[in-house]
Amino acid sequence: MIASSISNSVSSFAAVVVALISCASLVLGSVEYSPEQEVKALLASEWWSPEYLNSTTTTPCKLPGITCNRAGSITRISIYQFFPHGRTLGKFLNGSSFPNLVHLDLAGAGLYGSIPPEIGTLSKLTYLDLSFNYLSGILPLSLGNLSQLEVLDISFHQISGQLPLSITSLTHLMEFDVSFNAINGFIPIHIGNLKNLRFLDMSENMLDAPLPSSLGQLTKLTTLSLYSNYIAGSIPSEIGKMTSLDHLDLHDNMLMGQLPPTLGQLTNLSELYLDSNQIIGSIPPSIAKLVYLVHLNLGANMFHGPLPPEIGNLTSLEILVLDENQLTGAVPSAICDLTNLQYLSLSRNQLNGLLPSRIENLKKLTSLNLSSNILMGPITPSLGGLRSIQDIDLSYNHFNGSIPIEICSLSTLASLNLSNNLLVGEIPYKLADLVNLATLNLVSNHFNCCIPCYLDSTIRTFYAEEYLYNSSCLLFHADRPSTGIINKVKLIIVSTSVILASSFLVLIIWAMFFKRGCKNKKIKSLDETIAKRNGDIFSVWNYDGNLAYKDIIQATEDFDIRYCIGTGGYGSIYRAQLPNGKVVALKKLHTSEVEEPALRKSFENEVKTLTELKHRNIVRLYGFCLHKRCMFLIYQYMERGSLFCVLNNDVEAMELDWKKRVNIIKGIVNALCYLHNDCTQPIVHRDVTTNNVLLNSELEAVVADFGTAKLLDPNSTTQTTILAGTYGYIALELAYTIAVTVKCDVYSFGVVTLETLMGKHPKEILSSLSSSSTQNLKLIEISDQRLVPPRSRLAVHNVALVASIAFACLNADPKLRPTMDSVSKQIAERRTPLADHCFHEITIGCLMNP
Ligand SMILES: *[C@@H]1O[C@H](CO)[C@@H](O)[C@H](O)[C@H]1NC(C)=O
Ligand SMILES: *[C@@H]1O[C@H](CO)[C@@H](O)[C@H](O)[C@H]1NC(C)=O
Ligand SMILES: *[C@@H]1O[C@H](CO)[C@@H](O)[C@H](O)[C@H]1NC(C)=O
Ligand SMILES: *[C@@H]1O[C@H](CO)[C@@H](O)[C@H](O)[C@H]1NC(C)=O
Ligand SMILES: *[C@@H]1O[C@H](CO)[C@@H](O)[C@H](O)[C@H]1NC(C)=O
Ligand SMILES: *[C@@H]1O[C@H](CO)[C@@H](O)[C@H](O)[C@H]1NC(C)=O
Ligand SMILES: *[C@@H]1O[C@H](CO)[C@@H](O)[C@H](O)[C@H]1NC(C)=O
Ligand SMILES: *[C@@H]1O[C@H](CO)[C@@H](O)[C@H](O)[C@H]1NC(C)=O
Ligand SMILES: *[C@@H]1O[C@H](CO)[C@@H](O)[C@H](O)[C@H]1NC(C)=O
Repeated sequence: MIASSISNSVSSFAAVVVALISCASLVLGSVEYSPEQEVKALLASEWWSPEYLNSTTTTPCKLPGITCNRAGSITRISIYQFFPHGRTLGKFLNGSSFPNLVHLDLAGAGLYGSIPPEIGTLSKLTYLDLSFNYLSGILPLSLGNLSQLEVLDISFHQISGQLPLSITSLTHLMEFDVSFNAINGFIPIHIGNLKNLRFLDMSENMLDAPLPSSLGQLTKLTTLSLYSNYIAGSIPSEIGKMTSLDHLDLHDNMLMGQLPPTLGQLTNLSELYLDSNQIIGSIPPSIAKLVYLVHLNLGANMFHGPLPPEIGNLTSLEILVLDENQLTGAVPSAICDLTNLQYLSLSRNQLNGLLPSRIENLKKLTSLNLSSNILMGPITPSLGGLRSIQDIDLSYNHFNGSIPIEICSLSTLASLNLSNNLLVGEIPYKLADLVNLATLNLVSNHFNCCIPCYLDSTIRTFYAEEYLYNSSCLLFHADRPSTGIINKVKLIIVSTSVILASSFLVLIIWAMFFKRGCKNKKIKSLDETIAKRNGDIFSVWNYDGNLAYKDIIQATEDFDIRYCIGTGGYGSIYRAQLPNGKVVALKKLHTSEVEEPALRKSFENEVKTLTELKHRNIVRLYGFCLHKRCMFLIYQYMERGSLFCVLNNDVEAMELDWKKRVNIIKGIVNALCYLHNDCTQPIVHRDVTTNNVLLNSELEAVVADFGTAKLLDPNSTTQTTILAGTYGYIALELAYTIAVTVKCDVYSFGVVTLETLMGKHPKEILSSLSSSSTQNLKLIEISDQRLVPPRSRLAVHNVALVASIAFACLNADPKLRPTMDSVSKQIAERRTPLADHCFHEITIGCLMNP
């Protein structure tokens, strides 16, 4: 019978198996089974290619992914491979074939079709994972026959219809996950029967009925996740009985009514998300009993009344979001007891009164958003104590008084929005000390407009002539860091037509403040590679051996503006053709910049680092002049300018097709791999951005700008230093640690790679990596829309590969990011579990968890 349907060699294999089985058939403990059935089912599944089955010595137990019991009957099947052409469960489960199977793991195997009712025949199954396939149709009633099941994961499909009521008979179930499907209807009212459940996830479906009160019987449940459904009705008070709950996520539903007071009984909760519902009433003081809460989000509901001072009891809180409600009264001073708080958003409420003066207690706070309330009075100087703060948004309030000078000591501040208030007085000159400040918005206040002096002393140093006065007020905008060596980006000076009321100042300052902040303490005076000539001129002319200062002066007509091809974060970039015909690029400090010790240091650092490096993907330094009257560096000229500029020019971006983009990324990998591994000491670049990746006429990449680069001492695992880098590319951990490791570059490389694939900076994605809406995005949706999607198998593979690498590099935990070495290997071996997906199907979630 078998022989009639399959090849001879296979039949002999089967015969041997039958023979082996009959010898072993007396082993105790196994359920009676038919070896023929198991073999037949394996063959029918088409999951194993026939070459596995032609050897007379092979038994099915030796097939990859299969485990048997002593009697030779299959007990476990774990397929870690992706079937390129799609396979179904139907053929595999045709007949009651695997009576001893306890573990079936087919996650991400590329299965199509529906789950056949025959699944119910696997009566010994305890573990069933079908997640991340392309299954559709409805869940079969026979799932209820898998009475031994402990783990059931059917997440990430297009399963529709209702949940079969029979699942409530799976009383051994500990984990049940049907998230990310299209299941509608209600949660079975007898769900409470599943008394052993620890983990229940039905998020991202279309469930619409109210929550059943029997949920309260799930007293062992630690995770309940039902977000992004249409669940209506109010939260049943029985929820208070689920006392093991650690993680409760009901956000993005249509929940109504008040919060049940019993919520306060969930004393083990560490995460509570109820945002984006229609919950009303006041925030119950009983919430203060949830003392292990780390993350609380009640935003976008209709809570009203004051914020209870008991909130101050929640001292484990790191994230507190209560925005978009109708909270009134003052911000309770007790909130300043939340000393672990990192993120606080109370925006879009009707809070009034003064800022609590003890706010300086929030030493770990990185983001404070109180915008769109009716807070008033002076901005408390105690804000100056927020020593981890990065973003402050106090816009759209009624603050009066002047900007407290204490704000100018917030060295970590990256964004400050004080717009639309009633602030008066002068804009403190010392704001210029905020070396990390990238965005400053002071629009619509009543300042005195004493801006010129502020400008003179600070901005001009960096922007030279490129500023614009409008009477005494100024509108200033530079939309991106502009630090490349050959950089066509000019500052965009927005027209002053938007001047409002009596005062208007938008000052968006990017990278140059970072640059200025780079004070590399470890730089020794330049070493012996630098010859001392003519007293105070330090120079090395290692280009052609006879490059002379006067050649440069002649070639650029003493740095005439006509030869200027861009401005960097500091200095200007010139193109010079030398007498021998060779074209070089020059980076020259402005006269005023030469006086800046930090900039000089950064220049010297670049010289010191680059003279030691030689790699085809690292910009070549041909020579330099370090003299107080003329400071410049001489580089290899890169015709096409920075990657940033090319990506921002539609014509040039289209020339940069997928193959070229992947090549550029490979070039950056090579450069960073070399820096991190091949030098006597690892070198961390610390400012890997698309601005600092330059392209030659062949669109090949070099990494440039080593002003902030740093040698790592191999004897120490981490090194600390003052923050350097460019906003938008800096590794997350540098927000809370000053330890510099090669993993900081790995993060920035992840950003640059994504930017190269997307054609623009991935800021939205970076800030929402873990959100389900981001994870659901398809790669094709985020990839540069100016190019046609990659079509060839190879192109799809390469793009998916670098994208999955990029996401691995963006891991918030530096330890989990790959090293550049392993990235390089991965590219060389062209390994990706996603390789055979159709490009249209790849989601970010899939790339992040390949
Ligand atoms: C069958 O197995 C032999 C030896 O294991 C192998 O050389 C041969 O290529 C296989 N045949 C097929 C059709 O895969
Ligand atoms: C199941 O097996 C029978 C015969 O054994 C066959 O006729 C039928 O087509 C198979 N069904 C599927 C879905 O493969
Ligand atoms: C489930 O089991 C019951 C009894 O054990 C049986 O009658 C029924 O046919 C089974 N259903 C399926 C779909 O296997
Ligand atoms: C709460 O959590 C602790 C520590 O995880 C655990 O020991 C305890 O059993 C939990 N309490 C309940 C009621 O589950
Ligand atoms: C909770 O806060 C209130 C008011 O701030 C305080 O009286 C009470 O002692 C606190 N309870 C606990 C358990 O800390
Ligand atoms: C503060 O919250 C408002 C409204 O919720 C939002 O528009 C704004 O972008 C937030 N500010 C920052 C800096 O994120
Ligand atoms: C700020 O506003 C408060 C209340 O509206 C008022 O009493 C106070 O005088 C104002 N201060 C300044 C400096 O305008
Ligand atoms: C305040 O400014 C920041 C930075 O420009 C911006 O992200 C934020 O959205 C602004 N806040 C509001 C309420 O518009
Ligand atoms: C300054 O701004 C005002 C208001 O938009 C405009 O009328 C005026 O021409 C500007 N002055 C200069 C010097 O640009």
